[in-house]
Amino acid sequence: MYSFVIILLTGVFLTLFFRPSMTEVVYGGSYGPLRGVRMSEAYASTLHLSFDVRGGLLMRQIHHWATVIFLGSIVVHLLRNFFTGAFRKPRELNWLIGIVLFMLVMVNGLFGYSLPDDLLSGTGLRILEGVLLSLPLVGSYAQMFLFGGEFPGELIVPRLYVIHILLIPGILLALIPLHAVVLTWRQTHTQFPGKGSSNTTVRGYPFFPVFVAKTGAFFLWVFGVTALLAAFFQINPVWLFGPYDPGAISSGSQPDWYMGWLEGSLRMMPAWEVTAFGHTLPLSVIIPAVVVPGVLFTGLAAYPFLERWATGDRAIHHLLDRPRDVPVRTGIGAAGIVFYGVLWLAGGNDVIAHRFSIPLFWTTWFFRVAFLLGPVLAYAIAYRFCLGLQQRDRALLEHGVETGVIRRSLDGGYSEVERPLTAAEAAPLTDERPPAAVPVARPERLGVPAPEARRRLARVRAALNRRFTADLGHGPNGNGDARRRELEAAAPDQEG
Ligand code: HEM
Repeated sequence: MYSFVIILLTGVFLTLFFRPSMTEVVYGGSYGPLRGVRMSEAYASTLHLSFDVRGGLLMRQIHHWATVIFLGSIVVHLLRNFFTGAFRKPRELNWLIGIVLFMLVMVNGLFGYSLPDDLLSGTGLRILEGVLLSLPLVGSYAQMFLFGGEFPGELIVPRLYVIHILLIPGILLALIPLHAVVLTWRQTHTQFPGKGSSNTTVRGYPFFPVFVAKTGAFFLWVFGVTALLAAFFQINPVWLFGPYDPGAISSGSQPDWYMGWLEGSLRMMPAWEVTAFGHTLPLSVIIPAVVVPGVLFTGLAAYPFLERWATGDRAIHHLLDRPRDVPVRTGIGAAGIVFYGVLWLAGGNDVIAHRFSIPLFWTTWFFRVAFLLGPVLAYAIAYRFCLGLQQRDRALLEHGVETGVIRRSLDGGYSEVERPLTAAEAAPLTDERPPAAVPVARPERLGVPAPEARRRLARVRAALNRRFTADLGHGPNGNGDARRRELEAAAPDQEG
């Protein structure tokens, strides 16, 4: 949120000098190597901002670094909410708003760095055009609608400009307060278990003066760090890339980090296409650039509802889960990170091949295999980690903490002194909180499923539910044992 404020402030400054125009001009500014070169007014005004406006380059770099940090924070925040189950009732709506914010900021970043009309960003727009064209039936209409003619045309930069500075920021300005302030006021923040929090009590400090003072300080820290980054670390030096020319591209071209996963998705896809009824379907573009992001974002948006369906958990949760206590969710999250991470790394396949002196197609094949196997492995490994950590918790509760003090017994043996956990240390492990999943069907008897699990979909649900409830954190953390016993007691005696 602090980065967004920084983006707004610096963005307003940039609008004073940036010209969203594709009109061709001959550059005559103070950057020598490009003097006399034909370019769009957009590109020329970005050079003017960078070299002739006092503080202009710093503002451009703060705007760009703040975007990079903004999206990084959004992803970290999303992961925190995922792994702790913060998206559960009553916060599903806030989760959905968060996913929309994530997509909008990503798209606005792409549109923002496309404005200067330099060689790198123009290549990005060319990819966008290709993706639009690949859409079945509506592709060419969508492309003509956005670009207003053949690529690149004169209209794209002014159009992106309006969307970039007005439309998307306007929607963000409405959604961010709704997301951050109104909903958290209405619903309170989630809390980690222990430390005296419970599902019915809120612990924290008053909004004024404590929160206001803290948030003011955080804002200044973020601004300070962003300004330092912008002052010392170059970002998007468009004058080195040159003006956009559809016939040219330099090697090692990389988008901003948050677009890297889509770039990678395109790079690793085999060149498949099918032709049917006189139409060509370029699967090599549709799958990586439409299906893959569709799966990721739809999956993210639907996850709270899918999880609720599988866990049968309709309770209100104000206390967070510790990731280890819900191994299935943690495993799915780890698989998601690897899925995204492999795509992201594949976006740099040429740089990796060059740096490590290996053939480019080795990297492509490595990423193809990693894309399929990586998430499965990540799920299994994260699941095992959770079980190990749960065991550690149980050992701590049973035996206490090792103190490093060795005591010699009367008969000459040595043993380590262990100290029981204090109440505060034990609280997060033993806290009463609603279970993360409850059994939805009675267990099978003699291979016969309970009546509520006989239909095909119900069988899938019961199987997922068994997986989810199998290894939930033990102890009074609520592994659904009580509910399972209840259901078992109610089960008719099918053996007779
Ligand atoms: C979520 C919101 C926003 C994001 C993520 C974002 C991101 C970006 C990025 C990455 C660039 C490229 C900067 C560069 O040249 O290296 C850019 C350019 C620009 N942005 Fe934004 N921006 C946002 C909102 C705004 C707003 C609200 C304004 C104005 C009120 C604005 C005005 C501009 C202008 C004028 C440029 C072109 C300047 C130039 O690149 O020379 N932006 N934006």
